[in-house]
Amino acid sequence: MFTGVAVAASGGGRVSDRGTGEIPKEIVERLRCPTCGESVEADQSVGIRCAGGHRYAMVDGYLDCSKGAVAEGSTGRTFASFGFEWNNFDEVRDEDEGFAEVYFRDLDLASLEGKVGLDAGCGKGRYTRFLATHLGATAALDGSSAVEAAARNLADIPSVLVVKSDLRDAPFAPESFDFISSLGVLHHLDDPQAGFTRLLTYLAPGGQILLYLYSRPPTLGLRAVALSLAAALRKVTVRLPHRLLKALSAPISVCLYYGVVVPGEYGERRGVAALAGLPMDAYRGKPLRSLVLDTFDRLSAPVEHRYVWADLAPWFSEAGMAVDAARDETGWFILAHKP
Ligand SMILES: C[S@@+](CC[C@H](N)C(=O)[O-])C[C@H]1O[C@@H](n2cnc3c(N)ncnc32)[C@H](O)[C@@H]1O
Ligand SMILES: [Zn+2]
Repeated sequence: MFTGVAVAASGGGRVSDRGTGEIPKEIVERLRCPTCGESVEADQSVGIRCAGGHRYAMVDGYLDCSKGAVAEGSTGRTFASFGFEWNNFDEVRDEDEGFAEVYFRDLDLASLEGKVGLDAGCGKGRYTRFLATHLGATAALDGSSAVEAAARNLADIPSVLVVKSDLRDAPFAPESFDFISSLGVLHHLDDPQAGFTRLLTYLAPGGQILLYLYSRPPTLGLRAVALSLAAALRKVTVRLPHRLLKALSAPISVCLYYGVVVPGEYGERRGVAALAGLPMDAYRGKPLRSLVLDTFDRLSAPVEHRYVWADLAPWFSEAGMAVDAARDETGWFILAHKP
């Protein structure tokens, strides 16, 4: 039987069959003991172990560094929401590749070769899968039970280690990573800028960070009205049981898909400007199920922040980061590097 925090952290899960020899050495070198902060080594029978004897276990294919803590308050609600979401919409789908093209458009993927990356807030690992094929080694981190889905989806990629931990308390040495992505994550924190600043401590000089953050339209228009309606709806839906909200997300999505997405697609194809200008263009050509997932996501996550560029520019200037690209395509895709 294992002793100490690692056992508490395993939460009754099955200690993984994945041999600890498979933890990529590039990631072991960068891991730090969540208890004492010292360097660790792969423990033959458990997961990782520091010189002080603290052990953290591989459980169901992921390294559990959550110290057995059950998050409370808004963090607890956020983890419960995303744990449900990614274990219920858990498959990596064909359309995720199409979304990935939008997410990674500004990134020179060839430049990632041989580099070590962190995907902070990896969810079920759909974009980690994409990144991991370009990186030398990858840590896929999430604070929620989404790590269970991520571990399943990434099990066939030996250069990836899935880690369960809050990103604000991640078990890595400072300046560990050449590349960090955090896609759709920071806007769910109570203090997103503090989370961003914290993530940057893990980025090596010269390293790049890629963020996706919700945007808000700077002027009034159809999208602003739609977002106000969604905000009103969220006041109720974030309190609903997840199962009920999942059931409700299907009919809501059908209305949006056939009322907005399909007419928009038609307008774009036939050159009808009034229809082509409809919102939700990211779903054109994508299956209805992708909208069901995102509807649940938008209506369930307890905390969300939305930004115009004037809100975000100071994050980068105050942190001394150089912005390489920033575009708002119904969400901010921002690529920056640490000089
Ligand atoms: C909208 S999902 C995005 C998942 C993935 N990046 C994607 O785009 O498919 C946000 C993820 O961030 C995780 N998350 C939120 N707050 C976190 C925190 N403080 N520490 C670690 N993960 C967090 C959630 O558990 C969730 O899986
Ligand atoms: Zn230790």
